[in-house]
Amino acid sequence: MVRITLENITKTFGPVKAVQNLNLKVEDKEFLTLLGPSGCGKTTTLRIIAGLERQTEGNVYFDDVLVNDLPPKDRNVAMVFQTYALYPHMTVYDNIAFPLRIKKVSKDEIDKRVKSIAEMLQIRDLLNRKPHELSGGQQQRVALGRAIVRNPKVFLLDEPLSNLDAKLRVYMRAELKNLQRKLGVTTIYVTHDQVEAMSMSDRVAILMSGILQQVGTPSEIYDNPANVNVGGFIGNPPMNFFKGSIREDEGLIDFGDFTYTPKPEIFEILVREAKGSEVILGARPEHMIVLEEKDKNAIEGKIYLLEIIGESAILDLTIGDNMVKMRVPSSFKAEIGEKVYVGFQEDKIHFFDGKTEKVII
Ligand SMILES: Nc1ncnc2c1ncn2[C@@H]1O[C@H](COP(=O)(O)OP(=O)(O)O)[C@@H](O)[C@H]1O
Ligand SMILES: [Mg+2]
Repeated sequence: MVRITLENITKTFGPVKAVQNLNLKVEDKEFLTLLGPSGCGKTTTLRIIAGLERQTEGNVYFDDVLVNDLPPKDRNVAMVFQTYALYPHMTVYDNIAFPLRIKKVSKDEIDKRVKSIAEMLQIRDLLNRKPHELSGGQQQRVALGRAIVRNPKVFLLDEPLSNLDAKLRVYMRAELKNLQRKLGVTTIYVTHDQVEAMSMSDRVAILMSGILQQVGTPSEIYDNPANVNVGGFIGNPPMNFFKGSIREDEGLIDFGDFTYTPKPEIFEILVREAKGSEVILGARPEHMIVLEEKDKNAIEGKIYLLEIIGESAILDLTIGDNMVKMRVPSSFKAEIGEKVYVGFQEDKIHFFDGKTEKVII
């Protein structure tokens, strides 16, 4: 098994900086997800690790070995793509056996390995079929089987579930995670789907515009976003943001449509740490509450819409010109256009610097 280290990796395609100065360590047996919007450099990073693409600058290590000059076939990594790229004219058996045949593994050994993997992936009955006779989920398993049959040191999975329908995707998430745990293979998983990333990974690395924003466990990323980008990207509906100015004399923050008076110890930190007087308050929909009665931090809003989504509901509220989303119980009764007072759960909100957009507290 292997630990992967990316050191100052930069990759440019002409004028495009696909990856910028990326430093990242993936521990042995870890399931790490690269998460970010389309075009942020996820596939490029995977291809650099696989050796399919050469970085413009920086180093890749497998354990303590520098692998910059090692060709893909000598890196012992298995990559699974969004399109499964199965060989259409070959049976499932032959598809899975293929990497072993290339390596001239004996017939008996191949037979043993293919059957044991087919067992594990529950595709034993499909071994004689051709890819076009399989469902999307079954094809996905065959692609996985072909990847793991060589006992690779590293799995690189590039949006492997995005071609599956929603229900199967949820099912395959758990299957994949389980398989990875069973095999104990260091895995780097790429997705733009935050739910996938949060539900499967030991740690998540968030990339945006080729720049690493934050690395952490799913709960660290959710509870303590490093900046406005991460706060806004993770969570559905996303975090609400309010831009305001610190009014040091009054001990409050002026958001235009409302003011907010933090606890003195929080206010002191904001005054001290903010680069200018501007700060951004971030509050997740579940960390805003409808108040029974008005208090000094109450914000007046107007109900715009109530979206019932099963166990809870999303209350859309206008505050001045801003639209805010709050999570409320599905039993919540609301009249559209009605005036309400809302507030923040004080210990759950975040303050970001108005200039750098990095978290202050
Ligand atoms: N072979 C290439 N030639 C030119 N530009 C590329 C190439 N591969 C990727 N890019 C560019 O690099 C950026 C990152 O791409 P990619 O790594 O595929 O992103 P992601 O997988 O996160 O969607 C994009 O702007 C993309 O257009
Ligand atoms: Mg990609």
